[in-house]
Amino acid sequence: MNVALNLHHAATTDPLIAKYDVAGPRYTCYPTVPYWDSTPDEASWLQHLERALQGGEGAAIYVHLPFCRQLCTFCGCHTRIARTHAVVTPYIDALLAEYALYRQRLGVARPHIGELYLGGGTPTFLTPEELERLLGGLLSAADPVHGARFSVEVDPRVTHRRQLEVLARHGFRRISIGVQDFDPRVQEIVNREQSEAQVRAVTEAARELGFDSVSFDLIYGLPLQTHLSVEATMDAVCRLRPDQVALYGYAHVPWIKPGQRRFTEADLPEGHERRALYELARQRLQAEGYAGIGFDHFALQGDALWQAAQCGTLHRNFMGYSAIPTRPLLGLGVSAIGDAGDAFVQNDKDLLSYQQRVAEGELPIQRGHLLGAEDVVLRRHILRLMTQLATSWDGEDYTPYLAEVPARLAEFASDGLIELQTNGLRVTSLGRAFLRNICMAFDARMARQNPGKALFNH
Ligand SMILES: C[S@@+](CC[C@H](N)C(=O)[O-])C[C@H]1O[C@@H](n2cnc3c(N)ncnc32)[C@H](O)[C@@H]1O
Ligand code: SF4
Repeated sequence: MNVALNLHHAATTDPLIAKYDVAGPRYTCYPTVPYWDSTPDEASWLQHLERALQGGEGAAIYVHLPFCRQLCTFCGCHTRIARTHAVVTPYIDALLAEYALYRQRLGVARPHIGELYLGGGTPTFLTPEELERLLGGLLSAADPVHGARFSVEVDPRVTHRRQLEVLARHGFRRISIGVQDFDPRVQEIVNREQSEAQVRAVTEAARELGFDSVSFDLIYGLPLQTHLSVEATMDAVCRLRPDQVALYGYAHVPWIKPGQRRFTEADLPEGHERRALYELARQRLQAEGYAGIGFDHFALQGDALWQAAQCGTLHRNFMGYSAIPTRPLLGLGVSAIGDAGDAFVQNDKDLLSYQQRVAEGELPIQRGHLLGAEDVVLRRHILRLMTQLATSWDGEDYTPYLAEVPARLAEFASDGLIELQTNGLRVTSLGRAFLRNICMAFDARMARQNPGKALFNH
């Protein structure tokens, strides 16, 4: 790796890393989930959805498959550890029934879809036959638009060629493989042991079957990670050369995910050290020819995400960055989130209650949010910052809260992270790594409800 580049960059960003090392949302939506306060009823949600469907670009469908074979102790996702497959059939029944309820209530027999995304949990916990039944059922009642993208998240430890064959046959071309870290000590402490050979086998099988975008999920900030272990992980990543990499910061929320108490906090790299691990991985990826996409994704030139970033069509939704500007997002399954642009809903998080409500013919909405006029404008700015690294506010892009934003961002400008313009700003290349902090300056709900929340360390 390029050590000179590494040292040079560390010298320029070090004080900034310490200063801007504050936890913040990933802004896959605005307002972020903790600030949702106005759950739409079923009729109102359907109205918002119906309006959004008239946009004509095709909807995105997200299907949540919560099952996993064993718990990775770092995991912050909505999962359910399943020892047998007995749980799968009733769950697929519920997913297909939920989709049928939407089609019925919206009066659309075959919705146009621009994106289909299987996430989890672990979609490849399902056998090839189970995947076939789910996808056959969904796609027999959907009309994919030209250029529609189908993506799946997989755990390489339970993913085999036959599942990939089913996915490929149904049009899946993007695969996101959970890698996290290759270091044996780190893998052991997070209860996720998987070899480079396993990841290689899934990567190669996917490519042979026609997947044109292979993405790896990596996490920095895991217990026992060190400079050397991350360097070794990045060596393996570079040998396998995925088209995309998502580099997530470990989110430590043991009060919500008690599994995270299975290692001690003393094993976690601390603030400054943790951020340095991110910098190390980021610089290595850039040295290997990956371009930064937004703040936590990287893509090789020519990949769909890279092309979307070049053309200014990059989109961001609950699944992260996407090359397709689909709207609305229909979330199917336990805990799945839907997004109509000016309304959000999240499904019931309890598996049995989700299944029962669907069986009774009810949309299983647990909570949500109807966006007010200010929310809509601020959401647009945060989305632009996250995808285009710039925004400006004139005319309909203005809301009175924006008058406070330049003062909130003054320190960012003097640190060279942004260039403030009249009624707008541009994020500099130094500022890209601090995009979350910059977006927090636009988060009126956080500022009002949590006025003590600092955007950086004073
Ligand atoms: C649903 S999982 C991916 C699919 C599959 N279950 C697997 O683990 O390979 C989605 C991704 O979320 C990320 N993730 C899970 N828990 C996290 C946490 N606490 N902090 C940051 N990222 C996390 C991991 O990178 C993981 O690959
Ligand atoms: S990281 Fe993936 S495999 Fe591990 S528990 Fe979470 S969802 Fe399941």
